[in-house]
Amino acid sequence: MSRFAHLLQPDQGQEARSISLVSKSGLEDWLKSLPERARTAVLADRFTGAPGDYVILPGDRPGEWSAAFGIGPKPGLWDLAAAAKALPEGLYRLDQGSPGAAGLGWMLAHYRYDRFLSKTETVGDRILLTTEPGLIAEQARLAEATALVRDMVNCPAADLGPAEIQAAIEQMATDFDAQISVTRGDDLSTGFAMIHAVGQAADRTRAPRLIELEWGNPANPRLAIVGKGVAFDTGGLNIKTGGFMRQMKKDMGGAAHAIALAKLVMEARLPVRLHLLVPAVENAISANALRPGDILKSRKGTTVEIDNTDAEGRLILGDALAKASEDHPDLILDFATLTGAARVALGPDLPAMFANHEDLAAALLQASADVSDPCWRMPLWDRYDDMLKSDIADMVNSAEGGMAGCVTAALFLRRFVPEAIQWVHFDTFAWRPTASPGRPKGGEAMGLRASFELLKRRYPVD
Ligand code: BES
Ligand code: MN
Ligand code: ZN
Repeated sequence: MSRFAHLLQPDQGQEARSISLVSKSGLEDWLKSLPERARTAVLADRFTGAPGDYVILPGDRPGEWSAAFGIGPKPGLWDLAAAAKALPEGLYRLDQGSPGAAGLGWMLAHYRYDRFLSKTETVGDRILLTTEPGLIAEQARLAEATALVRDMVNCPAADLGPAEIQAAIEQMATDFDAQISVTRGDDLSTGFAMIHAVGQAADRTRAPRLIELEWGNPANPRLAIVGKGVAFDTGGLNIKTGGFMRQMKKDMGGAAHAIALAKLVMEARLPVRLHLLVPAVENAISANALRPGDILKSRKGTTVEIDNTDAEGRLILGDALAKASEDHPDLILDFATLTGAARVALGPDLPAMFANHEDLAAALLQASADVSDPCWRMPLWDRYDDMLKSDIADMVNSAEGGMAGCVTAALFLRRFVPEAIQWVHFDTFAWRPTASPGRPKGGEAMGLRASFELLKRRYPVD
């Protein structure tokens, strides 16, 4: 059951309150079109048409009112989120045009994470009528995918460990009639030594695992989607300090993105052979924890000297990317809350995007702009690859000095993907530190809709 689909409904001339969207430049003309009573109310309220500004207009009969909201010069995805947030339960219609892309913003304004609240404030549904009912189903799927990422990231690590990540993928496999395979615990030690090593200190009930799902016609081009599933990142023996560890329930944000994207692909029945890979671990601390200085043999066969146990994401992804590459996919997309450096470089709004082929990067940036899901390309700067040199192994897991930290992390991952395979890597924060309408504080999907748009264009349904 969709949490969002009913929030937009076909306009069949039902009785509904009117919403006006007014930009600063359109304010004067709009004022002129209003009846005297309403214009007086708008002027008294000093409504300017600035984004975020709104006013309630009295009607002529008892119980009659409408609302106006300020918007920017270009209609945007989030314009209606502010409206949905401000308005009470009820049925609404835009006085001009239809919601278009902003229908998704309207839906997402209804998102709340209340699983752990004993008393939930019940805000009734605000339903918006639309003359483009054909858009509703996909917007509801995108809203649901976004909510799935938010829910998983917001969930505390005690309630969302490797087993729960596995359960989520198993449920999806049942729903879409997909195949699933799980390599777990000590079974990882031969083929996936890096996933094993990162997860080996966790409690037995939270053992590391590689969860793989396959779906679709094997004759279709293979699409691999990979996500970092660190249920909690203590840093390992290179333990994080309090402030940094506080956020680390979100370190499975990449896995949440990968799961949500896989679901969108299956719902849309894109003509691909989908391969979802989620290495799910807990980077814990105990007597058998991975140590700085230990050397691991990767799935690819190369050796990795551990410089820092807190650079664990790239280790589990390295093995997962190597496995994904073995089937010669047409495209690999990976998502990971990989480095604090990406956040320092771009802040919380913009995921860092890396791509090893120019056309692919351009197509993704275009899709990103078209669906208002921003990301920023960062370079796979060849000369920094040397920073991963080890004295006694093929590479270290973390470059000394920390310069261009998200770039060297991406270069580490690149070592596990053959150059001929097109590959995109998202280093995402997966978290909003401040709230705005439709985008509450907490877990967030970033680059998810852009990626789905890229996939829809690359693999059109015929
Ligand atoms: N999960 C963290 C990255 C992270 C930190 C994401 C803060 C979002 C917010 C990752 O495993 C990590 O600890 N990275 C280290 C790498 C370093 C040891 C080379 C980092 O970024 O400090
Ligand atoms: Mn870490
Ligand atoms: Zn991490």
